[in-house]
Amino acid sequence: MRKFESDSPQKTESIAKEFAKRLKIDDFVSIKGGLGAGKTRFSSGIISFLCHSGKNGNIFALSPTYTIMNAYDCGIKINHFDFYRLKTIYDLENCGFFDSLDGKNITIAEWTDIIGIDYKKYIIGNYYVVDMQKDDDGKKEKRYIEIKKIL
Ligand SMILES: Nc1ncnc2c1ncn2[C@@H]1O[C@H](COP(=O)(O)OP(=O)(O)O)[C@@H](O)[C@H]1O
Ligand SMILES: [Mg+2]
Repeated sequence: MRKFESDSPQKTESIAKEFAKRLKIDDFVSIKGGLGAGKTRFSSGIISFLCHSGKNGNIFALSPTYTIMNAYDCGIKINHFDFYRLKTIYDLENCGFFDSLDGKNITIAEWTDIIGIDYKKYIIGNYYVVDMQKDDDGKKEKRYIEIKKIL
């Protein structure tokens, strides 16, 4: 497990970019944490790093809360999900989550806890969990980030 402290959205993105260096096709990144913890910001860092390579500039990934999934194809295919509005495993099937795990993509998902399944059963590649927490003492831009490799 690796622990980080972030004191700005930019720092969170740079932690995410450093983490993204190890990601490969078939990997799954689950990002946990409450509303406003920085899950989308962290995702944006990953996507920006993987899609950057000089030609596309810095990508700012938008939250998939309403679209459920945003797909990026920049040589590597990345599917960025947000399960906040989902309820059942059938919703996961319908939104293409299992298809995304199946061979050709890197998959990122926010709010994975909303659906009570054992994700390990479905993952072919490496499985990372990123836990993000705000600071209780009210330091507005402080975030605690833990990255665990589960598989
Ligand atoms: N250290 C930080 N890391 C990430 N976001 C931060 C940080 N400090 C403040 N913020 C702000 O918190 C919000 C996080 O939003 P977002 O990434 O959409 O959260 P989530 O997806 O977890 O709901 C943004 O408005 C961002 O500017
Ligand atoms: Mg979000």
